[in-house]
Amino acid sequence: MKKILTYIIILSAVLISCSPADKKYIIGVSQCSEDIWREKQNAELRMGAYFHDNVKLCFAAAYDSDERQVQQIDSLVATGIDLLIVAPNQVATISPAIDRAFDKGIPVIVFERKTNSEKYTAFISADNYEMGRVMGEYIVSRLGGNGNVLEIKGLAESSPSIERHNGFMDAIKDAPGIKVVGSLQGDWTEPTAQEVTKQWLSKNQDIRVDLVFGANDRTAMGAKKAVANSKLYTLNSTLYCGIDGLPGENGGIQLVRDSLLDASYIYPTHGDQIIDLAIKILEGKPYEKETMMMSALVTRDNAKVLLMESEEIMRQAAQLGELHAKADGYLHELDTQRIVSWLAIGVVVLLIVVIVLFYLYHLRKITLQKERVVNTLWDMKEASPSPSEGGDVWLEEAVEDVVESSSTSSSPSEGLGEALFLTRFKEVVEARLDDSDVSVEDLAADMNLSRVQLYRKVKSITDASPVELLRTARLKKAYQMLLTTDKSVSEVAYAVGFTSPSYFTKCFKDEYGKVPGELRSS
Ligand code: FRU
Repeated sequence: MKKILTYIIILSAVLISCSPADKKYIIGVSQCSEDIWREKQNAELRMGAYFHDNVKLCFAAAYDSDERQVQQIDSLVATGIDLLIVAPNQVATISPAIDRAFDKGIPVIVFERKTNSEKYTAFISADNYEMGRVMGEYIVSRLGGNGNVLEIKGLAESSPSIERHNGFMDAIKDAPGIKVVGSLQGDWTEPTAQEVTKQWLSKNQDIRVDLVFGANDRTAMGAKKAVANSKLYTLNSTLYCGIDGLPGENGGIQLVRDSLLDASYIYPTHGDQIIDLAIKILEGKPYEKETMMMSALVTRDNAKVLLMESEEIMRQAAQLGELHAKADGYLHELDTQRIVSWLAIGVVVLLIVVIVLFYLYHLRKITLQKERVVNTLWDMKEASPSPSEGGDVWLEEAVEDVVESSSTSSSPSEGLGEALFLTRFKEVVEARLDDSDVSVEDLAADMNLSRVQLYRKVKSITDASPVELLRTARLKKAYQMLLTTDKSVSEVAYAVGFTSPSYFTKCFKDEYGKVPGELRSS
């Protein structure tokens, strides 16, 4: 039993040490805004994380607020992230928080928007200057080298806004026919673009606008709404260009295909690529410090094809998402099953331990019980010559002893059974005490047992044989009669079932160390 228990404990220890380690990289993602571009990117970050089962992402969105983003970065750092991915709202304002994280030894990936600090581990983005420049060249050619352009910029101090503007201005500087009639300050959002355009239009109704260049698609669409609301028929043929070129419903590619925008420029989100970079950094593998992502112009010529392609990619991504959700479900089930199995093993081990302990406890009880009965018998012999009134006191005490021990026994029914057995045996012996012919078979028959059964049972409880107990009982009874009656020694001998007074005298002396006559005279 001990061996089995040892095996079970060793097996459990080995199984526990083989269960998979739970090492997780916690990556904090600090987004400057919340919009469809960021949503797409966050989905890709999650998708990227699916491929690394030891990555946990913590997202925070600052909704274009510098203050909030600084706080969020500090809190992410305080929660103990292993790496920070951050798109800083504006160039200077977020740098101190990023520096703090970097100084604490947390690797920092700055993506898409720049800071004015050198304290970052890697930078990943598409080239915003190039985007503005290519868009500028496109506008020049689209307008045939002549036309008025209204520019609506992104958030003032955010690096993509500055770089797109610079690229655009550089592209048109060699096109004297292109005139920038206004360069309005937006903040990347549609409502702000609509508002600033509305105000500009109210002051410049006589200026023809051939094309609006929005720093992103939402900005371009905001300006378009303002123009539509102004009902200036001179602007009916105005063209709109933006940047982002998102796939999907109401994304830039669809807007170009449906001729709501004239052109856009894909500003890649590539969250999965950012996660791959993060994992390389975390695992100490080689990585590029500066990564420039590819992007492309979207025009009426390629919008349809690009839309089809991007829809296919989105469909596959959705399938992947579903597969992942399923796999997650299975893993969850597996986890639950593992817990249940461990619980079951635990219960079985516990049960075995309880059974073993119970068994050992019971063995000890039985041993103690036997010792006590034997001791009682022994004490009865030793206590001579001062037995109590009843010659059968040995049995009474034996019964009491067994009953007492049975009340504390872990198996009361067994202890009680033995006590009842002894009580019954006492009655049978008492009834036959004066019968000199009584044999063990007779006593056994009275107990409805065979001779062997009676012998085994009496021996196991008292450690004495039935004959020994019968003789002890006879002698005790005689002892009592000698003290309490006037009967002669021979009469007493016959009364307690001895056939020969001399044999009685011998047994009496053996038992009590004196002959019956001596007891009488004393
Ligand atoms: C999304 C966004 C894009 C824009 C980029 C510039 O939050 O506003 O529309 O191209 O950020 O950082």
